Amino acid sequence: MFESLKTQSLEEISRVTDTRALEDLRVKYLGKKGLVTAEMSKIATLLPEEKKAFGAQVNAVRDEVTKLLDDKKEQLEESEINARLETEKVDITLPARPQPEGKIHPIAKVMEEITAILSGLGFEFRDGPNIEDDYHNFTALNIPENHPARQMHDTFYLPSAPPSNLPPQAGGGFSSPLAGGIKGGLRVLRTHTSPVQIRAMENYIKDGAKPPFRIFSMGRTYRSDSDMTHTPMFHQVEALYIDRGVNFGHLKWAVNEFVTQFFGSEFEMQFRPSFFPFTEPSAEVDIRWGDRWLEIMGCGMVHENVLKNVGVNPEEYSGFAFGAGIERMAMLKYNIPDLRQFFESDLRWLQHYGF
Ligand code: DAH
Repeated sequence: MFESLKTQSLEEISRVTDTRALEDLRVKYLGKKGLVTAEMSKIATLLPEEKKAFGAQVNAVRDEVTKLLDDKKEQLEESEINARLETEKVDITLPARPQPEGKIHPIAKVMEEITAILSGLGFEFRDGPNIEDDYHNFTALNIPENHPARQMHDTFYLPSAPPSNLPPQAGGGFSSPLAGGIKGGLRVLRTHTSPVQIRAMENYIKDGAKPPFRIFSMGRTYRSDSDMTHTPMFHQVEALYIDRGVNFGHLKWAVNEFVTQFFGSEFEMQFRPSFFPFTEPSAEVDIRWGDRWLEIMGCGMVHENVLKNVGVNPEEYSGFAFGAGIERMAMLKYNIPDLRQFFESDLRWLQHYGF
């Protein structure tokens, strides 16, 4: 029974060469109107005693055709994959194309670390202009005109700010120390980040705020100086804390915390008495570097003249401040020997020292 159906399907299936034609055959034999399906639907018309034998036979044909189709399908799929593998060959021995990889500059990395530490200690970031006026950079910080400290700073002076009707040499003669912008008269590239202390306190007072003030600032600073350990542009970080009853012990604690969080406790640190016009008493902090000490920051108790200049009563409040050189901190922590290379934009240097 069904011999011709079997031979016909066997023959047709074996001749097929692609999976689409094979699918057509599946429909032809096993589909809703397929040849095998048609035979199976005849079961309903048979007498009960005929059903069993016929049913077994037709099921056998269906199983056989199904197996033929499945086997052929597997075989065709395999040869189709092999054909694709043959034509879409990839030469895996080719070297990979180099992928350019960016790195984070050590200065940017250190600034991120410092931000995390000082924010963690409760200091809030304040920004200030790189082009400062003489008042904020010097005068308000208790560095009067003709004070030798002004020479020490190797200041870059800029022409006076337009529109200004002050004569170019009239630095320092300002009607009001308040205001956010750049005043007329002499403009400078800020020689340190300390003027941001002044601006931050001025803004607090202008807004009617009272201490505690706890701020830090960070950014570029400029001095006309260039050698192994100096570049005309460099970076500083500055912190300021004003409150009732702040004393030198608080300063030492904060500096120690800042330094050990940044360097780790294996670095040796020392405080050394020093002088800054805007702090009294003042100190400098050194970190041991081989058999030498390298100065990384200045600090001290904010001078009462500085407090008076921004309208904070020194009888009621006191505070401390510190300012550190970021390149120095990066050199020490990450073992970078030459300061000038920070700003040479040499990609090989950045590949080596970057993050
Ligand atoms: N402004 C100083 C400098 O550039 C560093 C400094 C010293 C900052 C003492 C301070 C400070 O806030 O209290 O050399």
